[in-house]
Amino acid sequence: MHTREALLADAELIHELISPYAEDGTLLPRTLPEICENVRDFLVLEEANQVIGCGALHLYGPHLAEIRSITVERKYQKRGGGELLVESLMSEAGRHQVGCICLFTRSPQFFANLGFRVVQRDDLPEKVNKDCCLCPRYDCCDEVAMVKGELPRVASWPEATNWLVKFHL
Ligand SMILES: CC(C)(COP(=O)(O)OP(=O)(O)OC[C@H]1O[C@@H](n2cnc3c(N)ncnc32)[C@H](O)[C@@H]1OP(=O)(O)O)[C@@H](O)C(=O)NCCC(=O)NCCS
Repeated sequence: MHTREALLADAELIHELISPYAEDGTLLPRTLPEICENVRDFLVLEEANQVIGCGALHLYGPHLAEIRSITVERKYQKRGGGELLVESLMSEAGRHQVGCICLFTRSPQFFANLGFRVVQRDDLPEKVNKDCCLCPRYDCCDEVAMVKGELPRVASWPEATNWLVKFHL
């Protein structure tokens, strides 16, 4: 089992891996065009030349990146693939010298085992404004916000400050 950077040719498989978990709300839905557009964010997990999992790292800036769309095909789960994907995405964030990695999940124990800690959703205004504001579950969110690394000081990052002003937070 190993990870590699995703290619456009992997986009349909990535979509098929994510879709079943998007239907029950475990993962954010990602359309095929959106996956194609952001395919350079993705890593795939392979075994015997077959793609069996995926995960993405979204970069907000040097202060923050987000791990998202992590999944391993059901029959290959519990064999270390999920952990390998997270470790590979974390080392990608390290290569970019990102100070903090965040994620929203309904499987907090899985990520706690990998060194993530629980924070408040509002500690991550860029994420909230990018995805949560469009989410029908905004007022009844059952996801847990988690980070690894030092939480960004929002006021020190001009873009984030603009978001705060724009949304009157
Ligand atoms: C979460 C997921 C990616 C884990 O993949 P996996 O290949 O089974 O994970 P691993 O085999 O690397 O597991 C690593 C460790 O985490 C544990 N673990 C796996 N899934 C877990 C979960 N949902 N909750 C808590 N612990 C979990 C494993 O038991 C293992 O612990 P161990 O080392 O003590 O045995 C996979 O279950 C999945 O695709 N789930 C559906 C989508 C999802 O929930 N994505 C994450 C939310 S953002």
